[in-house]
Amino acid sequence: MPLVTISDTSSNTSAASRAPLLGPSATLIYDDWYPALRTDKLRAGKLVTAMLLDIPLVLGRLKSGKLFAMRDSCPHRGIPLSVGWFDGERVTCRYHGWEFEPCGGQCQLIPSLSSYDNLDATRIHASAYPCEERDGHAWVYIPAPGSGKAATPARAVPELAKFGTRYRSAHLAADLPCNVDHGIIGLMDPAHGPFVHQAWWWRTRASIREKTKKFEPIPEGFRMAAHAPSGNSAPYKLLGVYGQPVETTIDFVLPNRRTETIRCGDKWFSSLTTVTPVTSSTCRIDVIAAWNVFYSVPFVTPIAKFFGAKFVKQDQDTMIQQAEGLKHNPSLMLIDDADKPAKWYFALKQARLETPAGTAPKHPMDGPVDLHWRS
Ligand code: FES
Ligand SMILES: [Fe+2]
Repeated sequence: MPLVTISDTSSNTSAASRAPLLGPSATLIYDDWYPALRTDKLRAGKLVTAMLLDIPLVLGRLKSGKLFAMRDSCPHRGIPLSVGWFDGERVTCRYHGWEFEPCGGQCQLIPSLSSYDNLDATRIHASAYPCEERDGHAWVYIPAPGSGKAATPARAVPELAKFGTRYRSAHLAADLPCNVDHGIIGLMDPAHGPFVHQAWWWRTRASIREKTKKFEPIPEGFRMAAHAPSGNSAPYKLLGVYGQPVETTIDFVLPNRRTETIRCGDKWFSSLTTVTPVTSSTCRIDVIAAWNVFYSVPFVTPIAKFFGAKFVKQDQDTMIQQAEGLKHNPSLMLIDDADKPAKWYFALKQARLETPAGTAPKHPMDGPVDLHWRS
């Protein structure tokens, strides 16, 4: 399993491989967008594989620039389409040469058909999924299994908020050997900070203190309302040098997205973190961030990536250790108030899964609420 990888420079700290530690499976949320891979991997004429929600995918970029994502399986006899050919317009299966238009999956040619056949090749479709590029992610819309070939996305493609046209950006990724639910509640859990993220440049265990945070319901998620950030976090310490009030807002929305916005006068930092089910028992965390803070200071991007990668790796290492324990299916508990966001997540997810399409799911929060914890 790769360690933390950093893309959009050519640097890549992926090194040692580890055997996957398979923990319990999670119920998956379909009919939504998930990031499959980074689009800098998609070059002309190249087919690249990815896995989302246990579905093997093959992705590519057409000559026109448009992205496509197909199930990596030929509808004829199941060989992966990724071992075939792609000329920038059509994907050709390497077994019997069927040719497909990759965005809709329609078969264009079956070379073995003779003048005696009356089979219309264009009535055959490979599975293709809506695929859009935003912030360097190839987002793929995964419909519920069995819902038919022509999925029409019912939701907008996620996008990182930006507050100007001049900014720097970075991406980090780490594979997590646990199911998506553990990845997500690890993401929103405030109590692990002083223990997992100890570092001289960040904070020590001794910096633990009592906090009160106001949360409010938002559609299919919750918001930690705009507040002056706690003094013991690094970006906030850095923004403090501008001498203006710093305000941060953190949202979580289904199925897997945490957005954080920090603003200080006209300076800003924005991040979108997703925990994506790769299989029903493994997931991947991606962080994309953009900022105009210290825009003209040299080396800020590599330094930010270096510290960001350390931070994500601390979470990853902890979850690898946790996965060892989860293999034995222990009974677990969620406590108040530090685990309240995790409880809301499970309630929101259950409401989404149980509510018929077209109806608004019931929200687990009645209104704004204060949570208290020490971290
Ligand atoms: S398996 Fe793909 S064309 Fe036959
Ligand atoms: Fe963490």
